[in-house]
Amino acid sequence: MQSVRIGLLGFGTVGGSLVELITEQRTDIAALTGIDLTVTRVAVNDLTKPRPGIGDAVLTDQASEVIQADDVDLVVELVGAVDLARDWIGQALRAGKSVVTGNKALLAAHGRELFDLAAENSAELLFEASVAGAIPLMRTLQKSLRGEPITRIMGIVNGTTNYMLSAMTEDGANYAEILAEAQRLGYAEADPTADVEGHDAQAKAAIIATVAFGVSITADDVPVEGISGVTAADIANASRLGYVIKLLAVVERVGTEAPYEISARVNPTMVPFDHPLATVRGSFNAVFIEGGALDELMLYGRGAGGRPTASAVLGDVIEAASGIAQGTVRRLPALADAHVRPPEAATSAFYLDLAVDDSPGVLAEVAGVFGANGVSIRSMEQEGTGTEASLAFITHQASEADIAATIEKLTSLPSVNRVGALYRVIGP
Ligand code: NDP
Ligand code: HSE
Repeated sequence: MQSVRIGLLGFGTVGGSLVELITEQRTDIAALTGIDLTVTRVAVNDLTKPRPGIGDAVLTDQASEVIQADDVDLVVELVGAVDLARDWIGQALRAGKSVVTGNKALLAAHGRELFDLAAENSAELLFEASVAGAIPLMRTLQKSLRGEPITRIMGIVNGTTNYMLSAMTEDGANYAEILAEAQRLGYAEADPTADVEGHDAQAKAAIIATVAFGVSITADDVPVEGISGVTAADIANASRLGYVIKLLAVVERVGTEAPYEISARVNPTMVPFDHPLATVRGSFNAVFIEGGALDELMLYGRGAGGRPTASAVLGDVIEAASGIAQGTVRRLPALADAHVRPPEAATSAFYLDLAVDDSPGVLAEVAGVFGANGVSIRSMEQEGTGTEASLAFITHQASEADIAATIEKLTSLPSVNRVGALYRVIGP
């Protein structure tokens, strides 16, 4: 039996659940892996809070003490701050200690620097929990799908917003009330703006693209739009047309041979009722992978919350601990520079609604603007009549630049009273 001693930074929603899981599973883990896990030190911010499950003697408010301690073999960072965590993880890696983290904001900003540091110091940096909670996505991409020519990954990767959109769609829930509930359940980030404005999903999209395609993508490479603009009317319109609105992170490899362009974005998106992603409700996440050989694959599971996330952290802890016990370090190739596709060149089908004059020739005029800008219309429906008339268009695949030019021209037409909602749509 090999003992591996963990220094834990952060004892909040996820850190607390990790200690709970290790306590519950310690004997079984030892029997299955030959490794005895113990949490020897824990760093927190506020030493006066009650900490069920750990003794006062292991607690400190000095993270560096934990990292440097002789009785810590492996560091687990579950605090969440970017600059502090970058410094702490750097300290651990430079000391040759492997690190497990769930910190997507950090990895999406400084991942390459930290992966290089891990390689230089013969240590590992594992981060399964940083994307899609309990779903084993990182390991699947890094191991099972390493030979797969992945073309596109679409993910519901934020539990808070999926929980909110599900409740708004199914129960007509109020935005502010359901966000407060998601916070109470431990799904939301410390600042839930990161969830509702899409920045959490943006960071995850960057990490997915980095791992799937082996190139360095940061959050700055990922255009983002959150769910704060999604209205009850949008949800009803989508539903009438056979769609549900989901916050999707989409990453794509464009082109038929290297150097490929990488496109990544996060938007509220209309998903057809019969697409597997449409069935993902509540705080569940799902990741839909398209590849040249596997065709389609979907991974589904709890995307947020203490125990589901701690489950992913524990998997990484055991993997890192096995490396420590065996004296081996998994070496990953250095990331290549990415060729990021300009956002305006990204393509999608689109939904657009317009409030218009209900008069002869208006539809022809409006449709002409789509055509003149190279945007092909797949379907159109009129709702209401007279002063209440509105047109809802769904297009075939078009570029962001062409749809933007279409909207600009439509805005200037006297017969168009208002350009309403614009959504990306999963479709041909
Ligand atoms: P919490 O806010 O619940 O916990 C943060 C912990 O960090 C607290 O214990 C806090 O101490 C401690 N802390 C804060 N500042 C310091 C400091 N300066 N020194 C030492 N400790 C400090 O966060 P979560 O557990 O929700 O999230 C942790 C990480 O996991 C984040 O990176 C998050 O993005 C990620 N994550 C979270 C998921 C979730 O569902 N919650 C899912 C996937 C990833 P104190 O207890 O004293 O306040
Ligand atoms: N706040 C995140 C979410 C936690 O809601 O998905 C999981 O990363």
